[in-house]
Amino acid sequence: MLEALRDRLSSETVLRSDEPLARRTTLGVGGRARWYAEPSSVDDLLLLSREAAGAGLPVFYLGRGSNLLVMDGPIEVLVIRLNHPCWRRVEVLPDGLLRTGAGVRLRELCGEALRRGLAGLEFLEGIPGTVGGALRMNAGAMGGWMFEVVESVRVLNGDGGERLLKREELHYGYRHCRELREACALEAVLRAPGRAEAQNIREVLHRYQEHRHATQPKEPSAGCIFKNPEGDSAGRVIDRLGLKGTRVGDAEVSSVHGNFIINRGGATGTEVVGLVRRVRDEVWKQSRVELEPEVLLLGANWEDLL
Ligand code: EPU
Repeated sequence: MLEALRDRLSSETVLRSDEPLARRTTLGVGGRARWYAEPSSVDDLLLLSREAAGAGLPVFYLGRGSNLLVMDGPIEVLVIRLNHPCWRRVEVLPDGLLRTGAGVRLRELCGEALRRGLAGLEFLEGIPGTVGGALRMNAGAMGGWMFEVVESVRVLNGDGGERLLKREELHYGYRHCRELREACALEAVLRAPGRAEAQNIREVLHRYQEHRHATQPKEPSAGCIFKNPEGDSAGRVIDRLGLKGTRVGDAEVSSVHGNFIINRGGATGTEVVGLVRRVRDEVWKQSRVELEPEVLLLGANWEDLL
């Protein structure tokens, strides 16, 4: 269906059909996407998204795949990943500002901030994501969250228009940003809250790393699977009810942190969904708390599965 595009795309743009997605996620489950592209310019990104829209093919913008559960079947979708070097630039601006492409890894961004003595972005370092994904999800850790440090985001709308949205124009909250549900973040300007000696920044990074290593599993996972319910932590709730270790096939509730589902090796999307349902049902039955999934689902809708 998108085959005809090849001649119109630059030679640096990747376009493939039937692309396995499991290896593009941190959880490592799921099937193939009908189409997969890594555009090398805004023009090619536009061309791809317009062509897909014209063909009635949904588009999914993939970051690092760290907060994502991919279903098993062949998925009728065009997955677009901003992985070309043109999306991975970080530019240091005056006054503690950084312009960063959507494909930049948060870890790389934090490395750049460290080199420049820019402090206050350390909470992002341990999130295994890209800037684009972190914007889409308003990713957070260690008490901080992405939109705290965002000045503006340049987006590509579904209709192909490019817009620069200031922080005040964006509607974001816990793990979501309304404008980025459909649109694609191209780049953002972030403001580092302060300045510090590299040594001090390193100490904060180290403290966060230690905390993460002590409290989160090392096995493949999609991070926290549920949003925290108002006033509590989903992990604590699941733990309290003795649900750690619950297993469906190769998907298992981590014994380290109750809100992580780990892949024991050969888990499938169906098994992970089965485990999400089991945990959710049990939590509801035993404590009348309704847990909502945090991870995005590709290839199905949570509303249809829960
Ligand atoms: N707890 C338990 N048992 C568990 C897990 C946690 O009792 O199995 C308790 C902890 O002892 C602690 C409390 O629950 O008292 C909160 O735990 P934690 O500090 O691990 O934070 P969280 O609320 O479970 C949130 C984010 C994480 C982020 C951490 C660290 C959500 C859903 N999760 O987890 O984000 O890394 O804080 O800042 O908001 C993610 O969103 O994917 C994610 C991993």
